[in-house]
Amino acid sequence: MDKEWEKEISRIRPDAHAINPLILARWSPRAILTDPVPEADLLALLEAAHWAPSCFNEQPWRFLVVRQEPFLMRLRACLTESNQAWANRAPVLLAVLSVPNFALDGRPNRWHAFDAGTAWGYLALEACRRGLVAHAMGGFSQKAVREAFHVPEDWGVHALVAVGYRADAETLTPEQREREQPTQRKPLNEIWADGEFFFNS
Ligand SMILES: Cc1cc2nc3c(=O)[nH]c(=O)nc-3n(C[C@H](O)[C@H](O)[C@H](O)COP(=O)(O)O)c2cc1C
Repeated sequence: MDKEWEKEISRIRPDAHAINPLILARWSPRAILTDPVPEADLLALLEAAHWAPSCFNEQPWRFLVVRQEPFLMRLRACLTESNQAWANRAPVLLAVLSVPNFALDGRPNRWHAFDAGTAWGYLALEACRRGLVAHAMGGFSQKAVREAFHVPEDWGVHALVAVGYRADAETLTPEQREREQPTQRKPLNEIWADGEFFFNS
């Protein structure tokens, strides 16, 4: 993340209560270069993810890293068409998985999805820090991923993530280009309540 971007993003995404600029700087571009991602960077993303907190330090997250052409083809085929339209260019696709049972005694770990989500968040922040895009996708067939990669039926298959370097928005279709900008957020007071349950939805 460079200083220029840090300044620009704080204008686009103002934080009423000053936070770590990296959190504001992370967003989900779709224009991605086909250039490969160095192994060291890829490992650093996984390193960041695996320092996430988890229930009983179970670390239930698993990341299937896909970067060789035959495997990429297999995973791309699991994406919806609208995701394929941009994510097919990504040199790396990750599948965010999780183990549903505690290793110690096999009891169900009801926090496995929660913890995998935290780990993905850490990964995304580290990607941004390194000037990489990490764009999560829920638009894919879980069944197809399970079949294509032999993922056990009870494991969580939460998201696929496109990873790569950012490309010029000109490489996108006009519809995709229109959405190629950092999103905003709901007003803060809509997402928290003080003591009593007081939410509209
Ligand atoms: C679990 C999850 C699923 C998502 N699915 C898709 C998807 O299928 N296609 C897509 O283009 N973006 C997808 N996104 C990206 C979101 O649209 C994006 O994160 C959200 O609009 C907030 O924007 P930002 O990440 O740029 O801050 C997904 C994000 C998450 C976390």
